[in-house]
Amino acid sequence: MRPWMVAGNWKMNKTIGEAVELARAIKEGTAEVKGGEIVVAPVFTALSSVYGVIKGSQVRLAAQNIYFEEKGAFTGEVAPGMAKDAGCEYVIIGHSERRKYFHETDASVNAKVKKALETGLKPILCVGETEEEREQGVTEFVVGLQIRRGLHAIENVDGITIAYEPVWAIGTGKNATPDQAQEVHSFIRSELDKLYGPKAGSLRVLYGGSVTADNIGDLAAMNDIDGALVGGASLKSETFISIITGTAKKRWS
Ligand code: 13P
Repeated sequence: MRPWMVAGNWKMNKTIGEAVELARAIKEGTAEVKGGEIVVAPVFTALSSVYGVIKGSQVRLAAQNIYFEEKGAFTGEVAPGMAKDAGCEYVIIGHSERRKYFHETDASVNAKVKKALETGLKPILCVGETEEEREQGVTEFVVGLQIRRGLHAIENVDGITIAYEPVWAIGTGKNATPDQAQEVHSFIRSELDKLYGPKAGSLRVLYGGSVTADNIGDLAAMNDIDGALVGGASLKSETFISIITGTAKKRWS
């Protein structure tokens, strides 16, 4: 079985002080957890302070976004090497909020995934359909396209993680049922197998969208769900730690 991963996407929340406090509580509360990876993704301003707290522990650092150039006149952007310099091992790429509010396209997502890999950052590539797309019966078409375009011309898949986050489930309290999620995860696995053959075996596919301490057990029990990308419930150490231990129990027993 692939090692599980639980990642907390803190989105645009927490001051540096609050982020450091949360990171410390997560580090201390998960010191005994085994068999997987725990990742936190604070805002850019808090990255290096959080890194100071988690360095050398089992908690890894992720950026929520990067740009696909190394440096230069790109006001407001952060280069992959700069995120790495701040302590990041991972980077979330193509989150639906970035696609919706900041007009990211599959082409820019693909450029970012490539640049992240080139820089030695491990991408967490987000995909997922809107409610309208699900109702129209085009979920697999949309998710398949996001994966094929997001991973276009990428041959070395080492370190890549996919996060399936149905847009209608994000921040709504309306999570995909374990069966709904499993159905799409199984489709994603088959797409990855077609693209990469046996090499695809190492790629994790996480579920994201209203994950809580209550629903993680049933989600993580599904065959093709290797962990979770958590938003709201990752902002409190108790709930995030429960999600981590709930995942570890199902994926490492
Ligand atoms: P919620 O867990 O708040 O639904 O957010 C999920 C998400 O967008 C994680 O990236």
